[in-house]
Amino acid sequence: MTKKVTKAVVPVAGLGTRLLPVTKSVPKELLPIVDVPAIQVIVQECVKSGIEEVIFITSRGKGQITDHFDYSYELESILAERGKTQELEIVRNIGEMIRTVAVRQKKPLGLGHAILCAKDVVGDEPFIVLLPDDIIDAEVPGARQLLDVYEKYGQGVVSVMEVPDDEVDRYGIVDGEEWSDGLYRVRMLVEKPQFEEAPSNLAVIGRYVLPPIIFDYLEDVRADDTGEVQLTDALARLARERALVGYKFEGERHDIGDRIGLITANIAFGLKRPELRDRLQSYLREICD
Ligand code: G1P
Repeated sequence: MTKKVTKAVVPVAGLGTRLLPVTKSVPKELLPIVDVPAIQVIVQECVKSGIEEVIFITSRGKGQITDHFDYSYELESILAERGKTQELEIVRNIGEMIRTVAVRQKKPLGLGHAILCAKDVVGDEPFIVLLPDDIIDAEVPGARQLLDVYEKYGQGVVSVMEVPDDEVDRYGIVDGEEWSDGLYRVRMLVEKPQFEEAPSNLAVIGRYVLPPIIFDYLEDVRADDTGEVQLTDALARLARERALVGYKFEGERHDIGDRIGLITANIAFGLKRPELRDRLQSYLREICD
């Protein structure tokens, strides 16, 4: 029997330099997908996937992110006074969405170090990691898809997708063997290789189900030339010494840490909203003609 995954680790400490100037004053995780902050889309994915607690790895200037999932008494009482029941429900539901914990990553030492900051809060349990740059638009939530694979095989799982040749240097790349449709036995991983050195086009996307041994591996990872501790190095050891499954998830992924991904996510999610769909569609047709 595999242990049930109840905790999600969501690193939100990054500077968001790819989205300057807006990220000079607004955390990228709070940028809107239509009218919902990106981080709320991620937390909703957790809730729909059966997760009970979200552990945010935060840094200076990111306090608004944890505040967003708190009750907002002042706003709630004003909305109640004015009889704005619908709006009140929207605000209250966010406060009630899920239990949250915030852990500070005091220095920007990379994704691996950010995950290691969650060690004491996660404890000796498997957990899921969601990188909020990656918004997965799917019928079955991305996190749920990975948890289903984990529950079936009882091993660590990373989500993967094929990327074009000129993009392999932006991702962790997997060397794996496909043993079943969309499922890979991962042999090795490399972080952001040059195309010539990449073992494949199979890129790791920001959803991982990990066993707690990963914390021991992360403690042993040495920082790379840029001073960052890479999660990929610990995953490579997990694949080597235990097992790691690569899972090609279903759905569309938007990298909202990037300008084009932020725009495509807004269009895709805007088109899903019945009250916006027709106007948005006819506007897009009009300007594309
Ligand atoms: C991180 C990981 C990388 C992974 C990517 C997915 O990179 O280090 O292995 O492929 O997320 O989005 P980052 O985008 O933080 O540079």
